[in-house]
Amino acid sequence: MRQKTVSGIPGLDNVLFGGLPQGSTTIVEGGPGTGKTTFGIQFLLEGIRKHNEPGIFITFEEFPEQIYEDMRLFNWDLRKLEQENKLRVVGLSPEILMDQIVNPGGLFEEMIKEIDCKRIVIDSISLIKYLNGNERKMLYTFRNVLRKHGLTSILLQEQSALKSETASVEHFVFDGYIRLAIKVRFYTLRKRTIEVLKMRGTRVADGEHPYRILDNGLYVQKRSLLSRFMQSLV
Ligand SMILES: Nc1ncnc2c1ncn2[C@@H]1O[C@H](COP(=O)(O)OP(=O)(O)OP(=O)(O)O)[C@@H](O)[C@H]1O
Ligand SMILES: [Mg+2]
Repeated sequence: MRQKTVSGIPGLDNVLFGGLPQGSTTIVEGGPGTGKTTFGIQFLLEGIRKHNEPGIFITFEEFPEQIYEDMRLFNWDLRKLEQENKLRVVGLSPEILMDQIVNPGGLFEEMIKEIDCKRIVIDSISLIKYLNGNERKMLYTFRNVLRKHGLTSILLQEQSALKSETASVEHFVFDGYIRLAIKVRFYTLRKRTIEVLKMRGTRVADGEHPYRILDNGLYVQKRSLLSRFMQSLV
């Protein structure tokens, strides 16, 4: 069986029967405030702190300073990890990233080698799709380069309410697809749910699992007995 990469999100590794397949590329999709960025950073911190796996966080939309600032809420000192060469938070444009990715020996490859990177997060790939050119081809190229370097990758994607049920090309291209959502329960109550819709090469526990965001990040809760019973019927 393929080696697993522990996600670092408590509870999610049970849903994934041990974790993400090593070297896989996974889309983590969700609406605003569902915790995508937090998920990504938490995944990198797990690698750095527990598995000696340095990581890179690429952000198209925010300056690295904003990410440092936001993540201080969880008491995560990202600057220190950067100084120790275990983490890189890089702000660049999707055009430059794609340009670098197709260019062997370019900045992207150099950065990976420099810190011996094993995990990468892109926040978010929504913008790559809007670059000029053949979208499917671009996504395949992107996926293949990540695989070539053996990186276990999380690609964050914004989800608009309108498109929530339609499958897009990226859902087919990448190895995994995880969806974060905020569901309405009983008028004003909200419930966060996480669902693994696809993960090539591993079993998954089907269905929506409740998750929470707390002071130390995301964690996936056990489903209620009733919900597990209902799932077993379908
Ligand atoms: N201790 C906490 N308890 C509850 N919620 C929290 C806690 N800390 C942070 N949050 C919330 O968790 C969310 C996490 O935000 P994050 O930036 O990861 O989401 P995102 O999906 O990346 O959002 P965006 O779509 O804006 O990029 C924020 O809305 C924040 O208010
Ligand atoms: Mg975000």
